[in-house]
Amino acid sequence: MPEQQLDVLGDVRGLDVVELGCGTAYFSAWLARRGARPIGVDVTPAQLESARRCQDRFGITFPLVEADAGDVPLPLGQLRPGHLRMRRQLVVRPGPLGT
Ligand SMILES: C[S@@+](CC[C@H](N)C(=O)[O-])C[C@H]1O[C@@H](n2cnc3c(N)ncnc32)[C@H](O)[C@@H]1O
Repeated sequence: MPEQQLDVLGDVRGLDVVELGCGTAYFSAWLARRGARPIGVDVTPAQLESARRCQDRFGITFPLVEADAGDVPLPLGQLRPGHLRMRRQLVVRPGPLGT
């Protein structure tokens, strides 16, 4: 069932989202199209390469970081866990990162 009908995520505009284990970052791209500010994190370089190819192909760009989910070089401590029921790898909070 499409998110449009479920409306589980609600309005994601302006939210910072870190997708841990983003793979091709398909979901981050989906969020970016809806106005969120995603950062994709993955430990596998080949996955990030695929994510970059997708970004080039679809013209959607956001940061992609090569890192282990347990040691991400971002201020994750300031993030509020969110949407964990739907996608375990997401943390979301309103406002810019690092403030
Ligand atoms: C099944 S894919 C999920 C892709 C995407 N999140 C999705 O839901 O479509 C799992 C991804 O997690 C990544 N991964 C596994 N262990 C990880 C770790 N410790 N830190 C960061 N990424 C990890 C893998 O490289 C892989 O790209």
